[in-house]
Amino acid sequence: MIEALHGTARAMVSRPRGILAADESIGTMSSRLEKVGVAATADNRRDYREMLVTTPELHEGISGVILSDETFNQKLSDGNTFPLAVHALNILPGIKVDTGAKDLALSPGEKITEGLDGLRERLRDYVSRGARFAKWRAVITIGEGRPTERALRANAHALARYAALCQESVLVPIVEPEVLMDGDHTIERCAEVTRAALEYLLAELDDAGVDLAGTVLKPNMVVPGTTSGQQASPEEIAEATVTTLRAVLPETLAGVAFLSGGQSPEVATANLAAMQKHETPWPLTFSFGRALVDPALKAWHGDSALISAGQQALAGRVQPNSAAVA
Ligand code: 13P
Repeated sequence: MIEALHGTARAMVSRPRGILAADESIGTMSSRLEKVGVAATADNRRDYREMLVTTPELHEGISGVILSDETFNQKLSDGNTFPLAVHALNILPGIKVDTGAKDLALSPGEKITEGLDGLRERLRDYVSRGARFAKWRAVITIGEGRPTERALRANAHALARYAALCQESVLVPIVEPEVLMDGDHTIERCAEVTRAALEYLLAELDDAGVDLAGTVLKPNMVVPGTTSGQQASPEEIAEATVTTLRAVLPETLAGVAFLSGGQSPEVATANLAAMQKHETPWPLTFSFGRALVDPALKAWHGDSALISAGQQALAGRVQPNSAAVA
């Protein structure tokens, strides 16, 4: 059981591959479809995800795909369910299991991620239908007086309870404490908050008995706030990020797979490439959403005659990220 968890976790971060995050909630996916002129229907969300996962040779650069609950329950045009189809393509199927970030009580401007109630039963069901790993995203905001210790602690605790439940069901947890880029904070402040969020998380994972060799961390890169006016080169971002991770993460962790967080596809890839110049005890790879799929969504924009154009656009983003971590 432990070996199975470790093997899956290692496979998820094995060079030259990363993880495709295609698990947008129904609400988020619907607004992204509408932005490119596509009606927000369940069928269109399905068609879009089918276009992505059936990209030829996707497994060469992608080890796992994170699916949303809606997609997990849908079928491709050949009648296979998404998790079984992805598995047949030599890619590990994953499932986003949190139910979203809600306002944290008595903490204006801060969020707590929900989804723990009934999670054990849901995880067992996902496993029986082919899931091999799961994802839970916590959201940390930087601002005047934020983040509070309360928000860091509550989110770390929820992530740890989720991770322990995953491992009990032999699912590798992706733990994602995302420090948002929004705000006018400096890169130094982002480093400080990222470090604090990771310290709370590691302490809670330890208390919960979570096995780090069967866990993948999905952190933000350490970057200046989007409205700070501060510029940082990929080398500076890599240096700040790796220094922060090294200060906190035990060597036993299976690996690190970064989120893109709203960086442009090219910037996210350049930053990821710069990280590889540093020696780290864990592989540093990607688990991008927008930085992988945005060009594909624009190229396809709901036209069945443009499926191959969408797939080429996705392949055109997977390839440089895969090359960066090779
Ligand atoms: P982005 O890379 O678009 O930030 O998405 C990654 C993700 O899975 C967020 O939960």
